[in-house]
Amino acid sequence: MTYTRTECGVDFKNHDITLAVLNMEDIIHGHPKNFQINLGFQYEEDYLYCEDMRVCDLLNLKDVSSPVYVYSKKQIEANINKYKTAMKNSGRNIQLSYSVKANMNPSILELMRNHGLFLTLVSGHELRLALDLGQEPGKIVFNGNGKMNWEVDLACRSGVLLNVDSIFNMRQTIDVCKAGGYVANVLFRINPDINPNVHGYVSTGQEGSKFGISADELEEVLEMATTFEKIRVVGLHCHIGSTIREPEKFKQSTRVLVDLFNKLRSRFPDLYVLNLGGGLSIPYKSQISLPQKCKQVVQCEIDKNDDQEIARLYDNLLTSKLTLSTFLEAIKPLPRGKEIFLKLQEQVPSECLVPEPNDLLSSISDIIPPEAKVILEPGRSLVGNSAILLSRVLGTKLSKKKNFIVIDGAMTEVIRPCLYGAYHHVELAEPSRAAHLQNASDQSKLVWDVVGPVCESADFIGKDRLLFTPHEGCSIAVFDTGAYCSSMGSNYNMRVRPAELLVDGEKVKVIRRSETFEDMMKLYTNYYCFSQ
Ligand code: LLP
Repeated sequence: MTYTRTECGVDFKNHDITLAVLNMEDIIHGHPKNFQINLGFQYEEDYLYCEDMRVCDLLNLKDVSSPVYVYSKKQIEANINKYKTAMKNSGRNIQLSYSVKANMNPSILELMRNHGLFLTLVSGHELRLALDLGQEPGKIVFNGNGKMNWEVDLACRSGVLLNVDSIFNMRQTIDVCKAGGYVANVLFRINPDINPNVHGYVSTGQEGSKFGISADELEEVLEMATTFEKIRVVGLHCHIGSTIREPEKFKQSTRVLVDLFNKLRSRFPDLYVLNLGGGLSIPYKSQISLPQKCKQVVQCEIDKNDDQEIARLYDNLLTSKLTLSTFLEAIKPLPRGKEIFLKLQEQVPSECLVPEPNDLLSSISDIIPPEAKVILEPGRSLVGNSAILLSRVLGTKLSKKKNFIVIDGAMTEVIRPCLYGAYHHVELAEPSRAAHLQNASDQSKLVWDVVGPVCESADFIGKDRLLFTPHEGCSIAVFDTGAYCSSMGSNYNMRVRPAELLVDGEKVKVIRRSETFEDMMKLYTNYYCFSQ
């Protein structure tokens, strides 16, 4: 189902009438009125837009209810293009492969495929989906530390690139090839023993990790591959973790892989692929304000050097026309900006300052042998910042110890805060109309925990957030929910999985309908007999 902006227009009007009958004084301003968050999302007069669509109006569409994931096509394409430009500038032969686990919505996969991306998969069903969509097997990488026989069989039968993760996985692959008469195109997933400096749950290439072939096991795996002629060793792979913020970590893992690549080339003449994995983070804290102590640093530098361009950018930051991350990115290449950037780097939270694909590739391109074909398999940095979870406020609770904004979105849609203590930015998606319920003194921001309705204290989306008091029904956005949110969603508390919308300029397409009670119950044996 696709809607146009005109179809939403009817609802725009209704909404505006509601606002018009309230005294304009009642609308609290002060929230960033007009500012560009990224290419997909911006605030105009306190209303959040996804491309050309005011997001609060999307909740009025037929077949759409809150909460709902809203994706920007423009932002996904901008993310792809950032990688493509960096790859081109690197002077190396690099192929981008989208990590499907980040978000498997077929419409998003279609977008990736149309841009020529390979797909990196971790399960037989992801493989079935990719093949169903028409992805050529030669453009698929199949990964996994525990593969079932049917999954290995499907991978070998289809002729995809298969990452072998352990001695037992090598044996399993040989057995499957023998039984089916297949030739397998194999990459060895190496555990390079590097600490990526991320949450332990997303660190995947250190000693003690369940992933990859360790130095001790390597010779045995190589020996097995050499003895069985149906194993065609085409590459090496590693993926040291996710949410990585230091290019140096990629450099370290690339070095390990390149050394091994050079050592093994005479032994395996078909070896040509270096798959360096994914893992680049995104600036989850791009929208936070500049810490007070940093303001002095910037002002001092501006006064000292009378740098007009930096002064202009700083003014845009202070008036909320630029996000902190965009400001930092913008000053970095300026002659005097680099110095300020380096001073601030120490003081702003690391989630503001995340390397870009360009930083990643500049740190590794020199060490990549020109004859190797490199695969990069990002997930988060292609889709993470392309979506919000749009929810409605159910109510607010004030108490001596804590204030709560209770929304209809929950840990079932955004599990990352609860699972990894991850930060997702939260903002009202429209001006609050709660002021008329309160005293004038309440018309400032309060500190809130933003929580969902799930019956768990772990069900929080954000803690200690400075926000205006929202009215009941106010739309509210949880940012950067394009990666590992919908794909890690659940039905806990019998909550239905939300719909997903893809915005393309003035068009909105429902790319997944919301689940229903009936959808959930149809899997239970005899349910309909009991309920008759
Ligand atoms: N390649 C392999 C082999 C992977 O295991 C992963 C992610 C990727 C590529 C893509 O990594 P990315 O570029 O998206 O960081 N649920 C966690 C993330 C788990 C990532 C698992 N592997 C989260 O929400 O942060």
